[in-house]
Amino acid sequence: MRASDLLRILALIFVLITSWIFIYGYFSFSKRTIGLPRWLGSDSKKIRVVKYKCSLSKPCADDFFAFKICSGAANVVGPSICFEDHMIMSPVKNNVGRGLNIALVNGTTGMVLKQDCFDMYSGDVQLLVKFLKEIPEGMLVLVASFDDPGTKMNDEIRAFFSKLGSSYAKQLGFRDSWIFLGAKDIKNKSPFEQFLKNNPDTNKYDGWPEMLELEGCVPRKVF
Ligand SMILES: *[C@@H]1O[C@H](CO)[C@@H](O)[C@H](O)[C@H]1NC(C)=O
Repeated sequence: MRASDLLRILALIFVLITSWIFIYGYFSFSKRTIGLPRWLGSDSKKIRVVKYKCSLSKPCADDFFAFKICSGAANVVGPSICFEDHMIMSPVKNNVGRGLNIALVNGTTGMVLKQDCFDMYSGDVQLLVKFLKEIPEGMLVLVASFDDPGTKMNDEIRAFFSKLGSSYAKQLGFRDSWIFLGAKDIKNKSPFEQFLKNNPDTNKYDGWPEMLELEGCVPRKVF
């Protein structure tokens, strides 16, 4: 056999192999995109969708709790509070309301103690004062505003939230957006807080600032 024949055969084998790889790749690709029934497709190639607790963008370390708080959008869409993949309050659960939505979680176990909403426009704010006074030691406090958290806000309530680690409770007013995670015996200001003032020049909605969303990992309290 001449050297040129050998080269031709080698070239042919090369073309056959690359075509096979190409065709195989093409068909296994289209199989996935057109979604053949499972018994025709191969199960081993199923794409795993990783979902973290509370739909966080990344997972929390072992000694941390995952949380996500969303404020309401204007007076239309209610707020939500998720903790360790447990949706504590949401419009779907039908347990949110205008004003301040607050959940208490045991900072050691991550168990929900209670949740409630307080109408800050026309409600009785003494109910909120009582709720805040009775927060036990070691509790995490998660707060989401909806529509109007400010009209009936008073100095006593502002002081309670400031002691829980809030930086913005002092200036909370009519139709501001506010989300916050604090703790009963916190020593510094909480890093988990967002605030948007109701300002006609910057408001996203007609009459309300943009909704807020805050996700993060809060360290478990170990005694
Ligand atoms: C929180 O959990 C710890 C550990 O189980 C428990 O000792 C403590 O009493 C709980 N606190 C409240 C207020 O339930």
